[in-house]
Parts: sequence; C-alpha cells; structure tokens
Amino acid sequence: MDKPVVENQALLTSALAGLRATPKTLDSKWFYDATGSTLFEEITQLEEYYPTRTETAILRDQAARLARHVPAGAALVELGSGASLKTRILLDALPELAAYVPLDISAGFLARTADGLRAAYPGLNISPVVADFMQSVTLPPTLTDRPKVAFFPGSTLGNLAPEDAADLLKRVRDWGHVEAFILGVDLVKDPQTLILAYDDPQGVTAAFNLNILARLNREVGADFALDHFRHEARWNAKAARIEMHLISTIAQRVQFGGAEIAFSAGESIHTENSRKYTRASITQIAEAAGWRLDSFLTDPKQWFGVCVLTPSLYPA
Ligand code: AVJ
Repeated sequence: MDKPVVENQALLTSALAGLRATPKTLDSKWFYDATGSTLFEEITQLEEYYPTRTETAILRDQAARLARHVPAGAALVELGSGASLKTRILLDALPELAAYVPLDISAGFLARTADGLRAAYPGLNISPVVADFMQSVTLPPTLTDRPKVAFFPGSTLGNLAPEDAADLLKRVRDWGHVEAFILGVDLVKDPQTLILAYDDPQGVTAAFNLNILARLNREVGADFALDHFRHEARWNAKAARIEMHLISTIAQRVQFGGAEIAFSAGESIHTENSRKYTRASITQIAEAAGWRLDSFLTDPKQWFGVCVLTPSLYPA
C-alpha cells in the first residue's frame, strides 16, 4: 500500500526542524514504519532487552490482583497498540470486561489487532480509536459514562519530555469515571545493564536507530550515507534517561527537502530518550497529575514496575 503523502510531509517538516536545530534531533515516533516496527519486535526478544519479558512476567504473576481494580462492565482503554501478549494477559483475567478500546495512530495496525482480538474474545466489544495519544487523548463520547481503566504498558511514558508525560497523565485523569491507570515503567538500575539493553552486541538496536535515516532516504528523498553514522546509547544520570544518538563519523553534508544539513565529525543526532523511574519519582509525577500510587508491582530484581494509579484530587 502507498504511504499517504501527508505522512511524508509531516516527516519532512519534523525532520527539517529537528536537523536544523542545535543540538540536532529526530523525533523517536518516526522509528515505527514497517521495518522499524519489525526491528522493535526483534529487540523485545533479545536477551539484553529485559523490559518486555520482565513486565510480561509481572502482569502474568499479578493478573488476579490487577483484575480487582477493573469493575465489571468497565472499558479497558489501552494507549498504544494492543496486539501484544500483554493485552491478552489482562483480557484473560477480566471475564466481566465490557469493552476493550485500543488507541493507536496507525489505522491499519489497529484494524488488524481488532480482528485478531475479536476472534479470540468473541463476547468482548472491541472498539479501536485512531488517535495520537502522545499528542492528545480524547475518547469517543460513548465512553463518557462508562467506568474506565487505562492501560499504558511498555514504559513508553519514558519517551516523553517530563512536562509532556505530566500532561498525558492529567488528560487521562480528566476522562472522568477512570477507576484506575495501570502504567508500566522501567526502573533505574546499574548503567551497564541499561546500556546493554540499548546497545545489543547483535546490532539490532543499532539497525533500529539507523532505520530512521533509511526512512528519510526512502520517504523524503534524503541522501544519508548510513555507513557514515553509528549508533550510540548513553546513560544520562542527571536526567535518569537512556539516550540514543546517531553519530556522524565524518564531516559530511546531507540533502533533502531543498535543504542541506552539515555535520561535523563526531556530531550527534539525538533520536530517543527513554526515561527510567524510581518508585519515588513516579509517585511524584503521578501525584502532581492528580493520581495516587495504589500499588507498585515489581519483579524480584526490581528492574521494572507496574503501577496501579487511582484518581485523587489535584494538589492545590
Ligand atoms: C518502546 C519506547 C518503550 O524506550 O525501551 C527500545 C523503545 N528504543 N530500544 C524503549 C526502544 C530502543 C522502547 N519503548
């Protein structure tokens, strides 16, 4: 299927703005074309990339406990794609759920997910909504009076700048009749483990990161020489985040969209932040956005946290 032209225009506008800035950046949302989504799936299977299997194990071990936060007749609203095993773990534990509402920017992906889940859960109302929840979260009015539980696994919250993460938590809080928010967050741990998770020896994460340049070549006619950029993962202790960068290994110029972008040797394009949390830091973020931390479920090594947030009054 042809890519809609508007998507390429959005990519072009976003990439030009990011690469004209100092320091240079590219928005991590552009990782996920078909190739990038496949590479991300591969990342989740890597020994070094612990978040997916750790979160999955927590959900599986604590499914019954999580189910207690979901009232009969509620709608489970997932922020992001719902094709994953994680969603099915929850759905399997929630026989009295009335509706499952996955939100995603990709209409095609949503439709496939919905078809797969309808076959597996014939009694469940599955109502996908095409929405960019990283920008704004607006629910269909049919859900207004229904009790709702939000589900946001994968530590994707950590991709957002702190103020954007706070806004997202507030917007979900403002849906009304939200009984709980099940939120997965990756936790601070030794930097070596963190860096290895984002710089695996097989080079899958490097290919994932470099694919954003390949995508610019494919979709906006850029002329990036992929062998003159290298992947780097850095731990930024002060900001408690893993950063992914693409480092220009030589002085070079790249052209696209009528612009020419100059790189010095060693110059970086910052492509992703992946914030890591502590119980204290996520409590603080949640409380400032009108939530309280009801439960904090973790694994024996305390590498990943599944938070159950419940609404509270906004702080004065
Ligand atoms: C999908 C955003 C949760 O930050 O760990 C994996 C993306 N980037 N390896 C993460 C990612 C590099 C992932 N999230």
